Amino acid sequence: MEALFLNSTSPVELNWVETKWEEMYEGRNPLIVTGIFAFLMHEIVYFGRFIPFLICDFIPYFQKYKLQQNKENSNEDYWNCTKKVLYSHFVYEGPLIFLFHPMATFLGMKVSAPFPAWQQMIPELAIFFLFEDFFHYHLHRFMHWPPFYKKIHKVHHEYAAPFGIAAEYAHPVETMILGFGTVGGPLIYHACSSLLFDLDPVWDLHLVTMLTWIVLRLFQAIDAHSGYDFPWSLCNWVPFWAGADHHDYHHQAFRGNYASSFRIWDYVFGTDKKYREYRKRQAEEKRKLKTN
Ligand SMILES: *[C@@H]1O[C@H](CO)[C@@H](O)[C@H](O)[C@H]1NC(C)=O
Ligand SMILES: [Zn+2]
Ligand SMILES: [Zn+2]
Repeated sequence: MEALFLNSTSPVELNWVETKWEEMYEGRNPLIVTGIFAFLMHEIVYFGRFIPFLICDFIPYFQKYKLQQNKENSNEDYWNCTKKVLYSHFVYEGPLIFLFHPMATFLGMKVSAPFPAWQQMIPELAIFFLFEDFFHYHLHRFMHWPPFYKKIHKVHHEYAAPFGIAAEYAHPVETMILGFGTVGGPLIYHACSSLLFDLDPVWDLHLVTMLTWIVLRLFQAIDAHSGYDFPWSLCNWVPFWAGADHHDYHHQAFRGNYASSFRIWDYVFGTDKKYREYRKRQAEEKRKLKTN
């Protein structure tokens, strides 16, 4: 049977996913439901998205797409990183995820079905990407200030040839600071749109949009650390998308290329000059090898 949702004007018929979503919350403590759902979603996407890259490691055909040909990570590197990342997920990120529901409902974010229309979700997701990228660029660049780097950011730079699951391998202070770029954007956006602009409640931010954003941001981060640049990688289709080609260089050179999703700010502030020269040299060498 289809569930019905009564809003102020007319009943809305819920689709299958929305009905399941309502059933998940039915008669349960919403704080616990959102907490467990978001935590599991985060774990499944984080490790699940790494699997295709892990498989590529075992297939010789894909080795030509590795960004750092001379560096190889061992199984021990993968295991050590997995253990450390799981530890921080359970000890630091998990508890913070459980604070999210009270924070969201306090600000009046929507939780129940129906979900927002895609015409509303896409611009919101674009705003979150732009906010996070700008925030990440400046805070990450600041983290390379020597006193901060030695105490905090050095942890994330342990792997000079990164792999997918190294994305969230960082000092807990860094996780909190850079995590604000991911979670803070939607919270500020919602506070502004609902409190300052007094819009129709239909424009209130929905939890599902927030979770979609987290999934997209995880895809971005794991892809950027994957160590692979495939011909089908997004950055080879969307010229302003950073991708692994951009962030891998940051781990290789320990400076420059501070942004997360886009190439804009490193270009504007000139922090990608060495990177662009390096890739140009690489391309020239490749061309020479082909003609000889
Ligand atoms: C993995 O972790 C163990 C224990 O902390 C350490 O002794 C070992 O050197 C690490 N291995 C690598 C490859 O980093
Ligand atoms: Zn860095
Ligand atoms: Zn990184």
